[in-house]
Amino acid sequence: MQLSGSKAIVTGGASGMGRHFVLSLAQAGANVAFCDVNADGITDLVAETKDLPGSVQGFECNVADEASVEAFVKAASEALGGLSILVNNAGIFRDGLLVKQDRETGAIKKMSLKKWQSVIDVDLTGPFLMTREFAANVIETKSGPAVIVNISSIARHGNRGQTNYSAAKAGLVADTRLWAIELARYGIRTGAIAPGFVDTPILQGMPEEVLKAMLKPVPLRRVGSTNEMWLAVKFIIECDYFTGRCIDVDGGLSI
Ligand SMILES: NC(=O)c1ccc[n+]([C@@H]2O[C@H](COP(=O)([O-])OP(=O)(O)OC[C@H]3O[C@@H](n4cnc5c(N)ncnc54)[C@H](O)[C@@H]3O)[C@@H](O)[C@H]2O)c1
Repeated sequence: MQLSGSKAIVTGGASGMGRHFVLSLAQAGANVAFCDVNADGITDLVAETKDLPGSVQGFECNVADEASVEAFVKAASEALGGLSILVNNAGIFRDGLLVKQDRETGAIKKMSLKKWQSVIDVDLTGPFLMTREFAANVIETKSGPAVIVNISSIARHGNRGQTNYSAAKAGLVADTRLWAIELARYGIRTGAIAPGFVDTPILQGMPEEVLKAMLKPVPLRRVGSTNEMWLAVKFIIECDYFTGRCIDVDGGLSI
C-alpha cells in the first residue's frame, strides 16, 4: 500500500513511538487521525503538524473503553473519508513479580488483580476493540485494501516482572496471525513489530547505570530509535505480500 493519500489511525499518538508514527505518516502524505488519553499531548502534536504534506487530527479516546473506541473510529472514518491503516500502538506497563517473599519477614506480596487487569485492558482489549471497529468500518464503507500494524514487544517471550505485559503482548502477536487469516478475504492485512528497548520518554527518565546494565545483553549495545521502529511499520504497510507475521526490532536481544 502506498503511504501517500492513505487514511491512517494511530492509537497512543501523543507520545513516544506513536508520536513519531503520526509525524512520519503525515510527512509521507498520509492523512492521519490519532487518539490518546493525554489531551495536552494531542493539542501539542496537532500544532506541530500544520505544515506537513498530510493532514493530522487528534481525538481523545481511551482504547480500553468500548463506547470511546466505537465513537473514535466512526469520527476518524468520517473525518478521513474512509480508513486504510490502523496502528495499534497505545500501551502501558505496570511491572511487578507474580509473588514475592520478603527475606526477613517471610511476608508474601502478590501482583494485584488491578495491576494485571489495567495492562490487559489497555494492551490487549484496546487492540481487540480498535481492530474490530476498524475492520467492520473498512468492510462496511468498502474502503479496503487496508492494513493493521500491532505494536507488541520483546516481552512477549515472557519477561521477568511482566506477567501482565508479557501476556498482553504475546496475545497481540497471536491475534495478528489470527486476524490475518480471518480478514484476508476483505482485503485486510496485518503485521506486528516487537521492539526491544526504544528511546522514548519511559527510558529517558532512567538512571544511566540502570540503562547501562539493561543494555549489556543487547548485541548492538544501544537502544533503538523511534525511527528504526517506524522503518519496520512502514515495511508492513508498503509490502502487500506481508501478513500475519511479527518483525523483531530489538538489536539482537534475546530474553
Ligand atoms: N519504549 C519501549 O522501549 C517499548 C518497547 C517495546 C514495546 N513498546 C510498546 O510500544 C508502544 C508505545 O510505547 P512508548 O514507549 O512510545 O510509550 P509512551 O508512554 O511514550 O506512549 C504511549 C502513549 O499511549 C497513550 N495511552 C496510554 N493508555 C492509553 C489508553 N487507554 N488509550 C489511549 N491512549 C493511551 C499514552 O498517553 C501515551 O501517549 C506501547 O504499546 C509499548 O508497550 C515500547
